[in-house]
Amino acid sequence: MLTLSGKPPGRRHSSPRAEPMAAYDKNEVHFSGREFLSETSPEQSAGTVGAPLPRREGAGRVALVGFGTVGRAVARILCQRSDGLLQLTHICNRNVERKKQPWVPGDVIWTEDFHTILRSDAEIIVELIGGLTPAEEFVQSALKAGKSVVTANKQLIARYGLELLQLARENGCQLEFGASVAGGVPVLPALRAGLSGDRLHGIAGILNGTCNYILSRIQTAGIPFSQALEEAQAKGYAEADASEDLDGGDARAKLAILALAGLGVRVAPPDIRARTIRAVDAVDFAYAGELGCTIRQISRAEMKAANLLAEVGPSLVPASSPFGRVQQNLNLVMTSGAYGGEVAFSGAGAGGDPTAVAVVSDLMFVVQNLWCRPRLRRALPALSPKVSCDFETPWYLRFWVKDQPGIIARLAAILSSHQLNIDAVLQKPGFEKLALPFVITLEPCPDWQLHPALEKMSALEFCVKPCLCLPILR
Ligand SMILES: NC(=O)c1ccc[n+]([C@@H]2O[C@H](COP(=O)([O-])OP(=O)(O)OC[C@H]3O[C@@H](n4cnc5c(N)ncnc54)[C@H](OP(=O)(O)O)[C@@H]3O)[C@@H](O)[C@H]2O)c1
Repeated sequence: MLTLSGKPPGRRHSSPRAEPMAAYDKNEVHFSGREFLSETSPEQSAGTVGAPLPRREGAGRVALVGFGTVGRAVARILCQRSDGLLQLTHICNRNVERKKQPWVPGDVIWTEDFHTILRSDAEIIVELIGGLTPAEEFVQSALKAGKSVVTANKQLIARYGLELLQLARENGCQLEFGASVAGGVPVLPALRAGLSGDRLHGIAGILNGTCNYILSRIQTAGIPFSQALEEAQAKGYAEADASEDLDGGDARAKLAILALAGLGVRVAPPDIRARTIRAVDAVDFAYAGELGCTIRQISRAEMKAANLLAEVGPSLVPASSPFGRVQQNLNLVMTSGAYGGEVAFSGAGAGGDPTAVAVVSDLMFVVQNLWCRPRLRRALPALSPKVSCDFETPWYLRFWVKDQPGIIARLAAILSSHQLNIDAVLQKPGFEKLALPFVITLEPCPDWQLHPALEKMSALEFCVKPCLCLPILR
């Protein structure tokens, strides 16, 4: 079996000479589209290993593992491309028979056995099954077999990204995961290429479309959280169990990947504090509006000396800021660099097609490196800094109280005993005396200084709900 460079797979990077790009004519292979309507062969229908596909000269051979929302969209793009740079050779999925599509070319091999892919002459494996098991094992064995891997799996990369990148280097192949953060927004490729000349010290983003949809619906329709969640579920923007999104687990896995790729630091997702958006109420948008702000789930990571400050959670942001203007289920990522200042990326953070674009773009990047002199990614630094959430910001504290005389005085006494300065007190008229919302904003202080005071205040007998505490990001 020969590879593009005429060498066995997995050894191509030891080639002393690069294949010239000019040797590959982008237009060499033309597809009318009709050939993609052919039926699968009987052997393929049986899910067996077919004969190796005839090699399209110059094409990178791609095997797809996982034919769900993103996998199907990736297959469609690959089947519709007419530049001949990428050739879909295999599709692997459990119970594969029910997955077959008439628009997939007849020479693509359908299988439910991952080892069929490992033994094949596919050069790049696209992992789109999600989760840790068996995705980790699949990716590891692919890299050990000298096959490059493209994945959209944030949990896998957040947890094992550094080890897998190292494994890829050891085996002379590539691992790309551009779709694992912000779906179709090309922020990871930008960190790898366009921003690699800067020294980044901060990254902040709206990384979870479900939370952004829910928060922007509460803002615009003035509806309760529970109703906005139901709407998101009905529209397919939120899963039946949306805890991973609402409580920040999804966003902190993405933030860990951004911290690795952009700040060069390794952080385990559970070490990043995540605050839920469940406690945010329509009344908070009314109070935030009085402060010129709105509320978004913000994920932020910042280097402070050798330490990493990182957290995910609902935060007040100026309504007119780029974050404040992000509506519906869109994503936005902003980087802060020592030389280039702030750079913003926004777009669709999820969905089959946008995510598939990111996957196929990674495939293009990998295939270009297959053809050129090896340009393997430098070893990522394995700096593991101390992680905390001690950002110093102004704060928004919202209380629901049973009205009685002396409430403000008692809260103020606790705040002052912790050296916390009140900036403003806001109280809207028209609420029941038994459950009255009002807000205190604080001058900037670090998280650690505020929390003991919060515990004392929430325990006061007139508080009917725990205090909601949100940072105000300016
Ligand atoms: N969807 C998005 O908008 C989006 C955005 C960014 C990143 N991602 C990431 O992209 C990846 C794929 O997401 P998705 O939305 O396409 O998921 P999905 O729709 O659930 O598709 C997963 C596919 O993999 C198959 N599969 C699961 N476990 C398997 C196994 N052990 N062996 C063989 N096949 C298996 C599933 O088969 P069954 O049909 O039997 O379940 C399904 O066809 C995930 O890592 C996800 O986090 C998704």
